[in-house]
Amino acid sequence: MRKLSVNIDHIATLRQARKEPVPDPVHAAFLVELGGADGITVHLRTDRRHINERDLELLRKTIKTELNLEMAATKEMLEIAQRVKPDVVTLVPERPDELTTEGGLDVVKNYQRIKPIAEQVKKAGIRLSFFIETDIKQVQTVKSLYADQIEINTNQYTKDIKNQSKIIKKIEKTARYAHQKGLLVHCGHGIDYWNIQPILQISEVSGFSIGFSIIARAVMIGLKQAVQDMKNIIRESNITEEK
Ligand code: PXP
Repeated sequence: MRKLSVNIDHIATLRQARKEPVPDPVHAAFLVELGGADGITVHLRTDRRHINERDLELLRKTIKTELNLEMAATKEMLEIAQRVKPDVVTLVPERPDELTTEGGLDVVKNYQRIKPIAEQVKKAGIRLSFFIETDIKQVQTVKSLYADQIEINTNQYTKDIKNQSKIIKKIEKTARYAHQKGLLVHCGHGIDYWNIQPILQISEVSGFSIGFSIIARAVMIGLKQAVQDMKNIIRESNITEEK
């Protein structure tokens, strides 16, 4: 059975917009699991712009599925991973002023920097995944960096509509090669309820990491109920008579 890990960073982004305790990503994770997700993904960023250590620690203690921690390959993040022990660590690139992760981690270029971090993640007994582009060289390199899994960056596929069929072929080729090399193959970034279809045709893809489209849909599905709840409170107060 293919796995769905839901990225709940956007719940924390909304919380941080007002610096209020709600909406709480820990509460969201509970609902995500009730919905049938196989895992929870969070990206603990160096600037803590959404998910923070409190969230990560509580998620570790409360979720019943798999916790996937996306993080930069830094000493600070390694120490957090060693302490919290998520089920999976996904190494991603990180730029402070980016809106979201902009591309795959270039493991060829950053090999020396990543290697000691990857080694320690594995030593801690954590499954190790790399967020990479569709490039055979990247797959070959993660193999020598103790990888158990890759997550193929599908962002370009989801945005470049004109070249979608060309890009899906590259995703397929990369997925097939990585699978042959014994790696688990997941896909993520920009995936929605429609563009997932062609990716589902690739049998080597065994999991998905999806955030934005699910959270965006949740807002729309839940808005009507939220308004009704407030309206009921106001109606039930019954202090002033409407003329
Ligand atoms: N995978 C990685 C490595 C990401 O950085 C993100 C975005 O946080 C996702 C998956 C999920 O992407 P989206 O929110 O577009 O579904």
